[in-house]
Amino acid sequence: MCGIVGYIGNKQAYPILIKGLQRLEYRGYDSAGIALLHNDNLNVYKAKGKVSDLVHFAEQQDIQGTIGIAHTRWATHGEPNLVNAHPHYSQSEELALIHNGIIENYAVLKEGLKELGYTFSSETDTEVLIQLIEYIKKSNNVDLTTAVQLALNQVIGAYAIAVIEKGQPDLIVAARKGSPLVVGIGDDEFFLASDATPIVEFTNKVVYIGEEEIVTLQRGKGLKVTTIANVEKTHEVKELEMTLSQLEKGGYPHFMIKEIFEQPKTLSDSMRGRVNVEANNITLAGFIDNKEKFLSAKRIIILACGTSWHSALIGKYAIEEFARIPVEVEYSSEFRYRKPVINPDDLVIAISQSGETADTLAAVELAKSHDAFIFGICNVVGSSIPRNTHSGCYTHAGPEIGVASTKAFTAQVTVLTMLALMIGKEKGTLENERYLQIVKELGQIPEKIKEILKQDANIAEFAKTFTYAQNFIYLGRGYNFPVALEGALKLKEISYIHAEGYPAAEMKHGPIALISQEMPVVVIAPSAGMYEKVVSNIQEIKARKGKIISIVTEGDVVVKNLSDYSICIPDTEECLVPLLAAIPLQLLAYHIAVVKGCNVDQPRNLAKSVTVE
Ligand code: G6P
Repeated sequence: MCGIVGYIGNKQAYPILIKGLQRLEYRGYDSAGIALLHNDNLNVYKAKGKVSDLVHFAEQQDIQGTIGIAHTRWATHGEPNLVNAHPHYSQSEELALIHNGIIENYAVLKEGLKELGYTFSSETDTEVLIQLIEYIKKSNNVDLTTAVQLALNQVIGAYAIAVIEKGQPDLIVAARKGSPLVVGIGDDEFFLASDATPIVEFTNKVVYIGEEEIVTLQRGKGLKVTTIANVEKTHEVKELEMTLSQLEKGGYPHFMIKEIFEQPKTLSDSMRGRVNVEANNITLAGFIDNKEKFLSAKRIIILACGTSWHSALIGKYAIEEFARIPVEVEYSSEFRYRKPVINPDDLVIAISQSGETADTLAAVELAKSHDAFIFGICNVVGSSIPRNTHSGCYTHAGPEIGVASTKAFTAQVTVLTMLALMIGKEKGTLENERYLQIVKELGQIPEKIKEILKQDANIAEFAKTFTYAQNFIYLGRGYNFPVALEGALKLKEISYIHAEGYPAAEMKHGPIALISQEMPVVVIAPSAGMYEKVVSNIQEIKARKGKIISIVTEGDVVVKNLSDYSICIPDTEECLVPLLAAIPLQLLAYHIAVVKGCNVDQPRNLAKSVTVE
């Protein structure tokens, strides 16, 4: 949700900020803006639409300056238009602010400021914050850092902000609570961003700003971190693992297809140093360090949103099968606001690609306050959720830029599978022979995905047939029921075709009423696991003239003959089928969306990192 970038140094800020916005555009893309300080002018330029629209407008203006802040927006308060776009000026136009998050008590603050004579041009909560900062600064006669600190003490909500001031060409003040913020340290220069992607090109030294911390970046003087309560903090400089090539399309037309094709590698990366194929063994440090917690857990609660929630469901099947521990999978947003029963002997797993999802972060805090042990499964290294959990395990899928999650999903499933196998083995609920068979097979998965990817052109071809469709149904049973949900989500997200995932047997309790020759039905029908039952479900669709697209195991004849289109996946263990079956579903959604002319990497209304609830 919203991307923020800042720069202060010896270089021209504009190109750095624009490039940064382009890298962060996956976070929001309904409007963009930039503020630059030059010759005692504080220039703010904004545009509705994409960063490219901002570039088009700004390049006719004075874009000089070695200090600036910039923003790409995903609207919360106020429609996406020019007035509501960030940066926002203060009333005197001496301050400019960018903000990612939501100021919940903005209405009360706004009323108070109106009574003091402040007027507002936008509907945003952000403009309220900058007016408040200005009011405090002027009425208390304090410097910008102090004004920001005092203002934030009055604010309820979530934010990552950056402020610059006319007449202060050597200073950026930034702060965070609930929304991410990273500072990059270059040679006599600082970069500021919502995540490290705009920074990695310039430096690999970063400081992750902590909760409720304010950072003052001063040209020539270094960086200073204090808390909102004004306690001075020491900061730790970390080294980035990310590389620039991971952030580029590398010859592919979209990030999404690049990321789909990366999966043989990302899954190997996920398993590297963990799955030892020769020794047929798995070692997950996060598990080993906390073995007793896992082995004594009476129940596991998994918290997640979106695609991560689907991987959690697959994790539930695996943990219950191998470790015999009851697992509950919860939407973070529901969990945090009901009165969940959380016991100290519960083990909580939080799954999040970004590590920043506001609801998951809040659900983690809630579980922590009930003394549960929290294990994070996240992709973005150094993000908020891993920093707020007791232990965890990175998925190592590398930066995922396409808004629709693909490689992060399969990496999450891989980690959950490894975890389930390890707990099962250690508890003795999984026989060693079975354990060895599955570990061996897990090691083969990247090669098997390569085989599936060879069918890309074929899938692209038959995807054209389905651009007419208004609706799709996805069916699967057992481990493949969550895969059906995920396949349907992929299609909805990027092609705007309504799609529903169902457990195949549940179809007759309602969705079967929708089946006609207009309705494409995607059925995951591998030979491993309830094959005959799924065949019966396919017969039911066939009898009602539904169009069947099946995912079958190589060598299958029966389902193939019943289907209009089939995609083959190699044979594997039942618990590993999701890792294979997900791939053709990602490709199908991608190609349908491309043929429909949709913006695959930046689907309408979505954002990749949801830092508001
Ligand atoms: C957004 C993204 C989804 C993602 C979900 C959860 O909705 O568009 O792709 O699955 O957030 O995100 P997380 O980063 O917590 O996995």
